[in-house]
Amino acid sequence: MNIILLGPPGAGKGTQARRLVEAEGMVQLSTGDMLRAAKTSGTEMGKKVAEVMARGELVTDDIVIGLIEEQLEGEAGRHGLIFDGFPRTLAQADALEELLAKKGKSLDVVIAMEVDDEALIRRIAGRFTCAQCGEVYHEDTRPTAKEGVCDRCGSTEFVRRADDNEESVRVRLNAYYRSTAPLIGYYHAKGKLAQVDGLAEIETVAAEIRKILKKAS
Ligand code: AP5
Repeated sequence: MNIILLGPPGAGKGTQARRLVEAEGMVQLSTGDMLRAAKTSGTEMGKKVAEVMARGELVTDDIVIGLIEEQLEGEAGRHGLIFDGFPRTLAQADALEELLAKKGKSLDVVIAMEVDDEALIRRIAGRFTCAQCGEVYHEDTRPTAKEGVCDRCGSTEFVRRADDNEESVRVRLNAYYRSTAPLIGYYHAKGKLAQVDGLAEIETVAAEIRKILKKAS
């Protein structure tokens, strides 16, 4: 089963993708994570990507499509795939369809996660991530069980993302409404769209997603 988690910044795409990886053995393909890795590579491309991401703007289609293509060539292409944060433009959506078709694959379902802007800004402002294993937490809605210790790997180091500031979040939201939200209609027209209330609690959203996957399988 190959799925897309579609939603604005802070909708919970990464949180739910990690649950699916653990519970279903699927593979998470997050273009945000791939670009953050590229940023630290020290290359010219990495430097350009870092600037664009810090501003909250979208990285160019050719770069992200290239990253996804690389992943599909490798091991990841053999498992059930979760596209997290990709596609974000109509050009990326068309490219994904072509890349999957070349591999004899297709998309099964696109899950749109709906959350209002105020909640998104609160979520992003309170987010922190384990520096070791990448587990995502929130100061209010998903704190660590033991203060300062990652539930998953026991690390005591946490990081906050450079683009998780109010100015950048507003630019990211604009980019979402301008370039990514039209994909909801695009996938609806293809009969692939399912919607979940992303404002519900994390476990409730996860249960809704499981129901959608069961129905689509
Ligand atoms: P990316 O890393 O994809 O970030 P994003 O889309 O802005 O999404 P986030 O990671 O911020 O949010 P999320 O939906 O994963 O939420 P999370 O689960 O963490 O992209 C970053 C940048 O890279 C972009 O701005 C762009 O520059 C570039 N980029 C990436 N892909 C690109 C592409 N395809 N094309 C062009 N450019 C691209 O949850 C957020 C917080 O809320 C957490 O603290 C979590 O604990 C909490 N939370 C989650 N679910 C719930 C819930 N149900 N209830 C309460 N709290 C919750």
